[in-house]
Amino acid sequence: MKLFVATHNQHKIREISEILPDLEVVADDPAGVVENAPDFIGNAFIKVRSIASKHPGCWCMADDSGLEVVALGGAPGVYSARYAGEPTDSAKNNGLLLENLKGVEDRRANFTCAIALVSPEGREFSALGKCFGRIAERPSGTAGFGYDPLFIPDGESMSFAELGDERKNRISHRGRALAEAAGIICGESNVLA
Ligand code: IMP
Repeated sequence: MKLFVATHNQHKIREISEILPDLEVVADDPAGVVENAPDFIGNAFIKVRSIASKHPGCWCMADDSGLEVVALGGAPGVYSARYAGEPTDSAKNNGLLLENLKGVEDRRANFTCAIALVSPEGREFSALGKCFGRIAERPSGTAGFGYDPLFIPDGESMSFAELGDERKNRISHRGRALAEAAGIICGESNVLA
């Protein structure tokens, strides 16, 4: 069975294919869709609904994720990709985050990933994954993307960018949300949106 994913990101397609090996995972770029919901799950549903009508009888999925920092009242949140402005620039985003946390002792943060699903019958489901940790004083590591060089997950002393993809995927917000989504698709759980 095909699973259409509202993304242009081949890295995401690969990760989803690894977690759902029985499905044929196909990217469908939701280009031009305006992600203006106030939260991750709202944006995920905007994206999945924009492709679902094109693929009746198939599963469709979209995800939306970002970083929430306690001392910044949950920022950058849904603005994670463009925290330091557009176009997206991870080095600038990380620089601004460190600047805004200068002298701040409370470094607690979490990554959140929300997944919106539409079933072949048109029913809607959602899945959520979180990964808690803290923001480092300076970037370290070269793996991953985005805020990975600054994020140290709880129970670890290294950043996501130092831990590498395999270890990161096992504990990450996206890995957790995808595992829940896989359960929904396989009919093993039934989380209604
Ligand atoms: P997206 O919704 O998955 O495209 O994520 C939006 C933004 O959140 C990205 O551009 C990154 O800045 C940030 N982000 C989301 N997930 C991660 C992650 O696993 N590591 C680092 N940054 C992330």
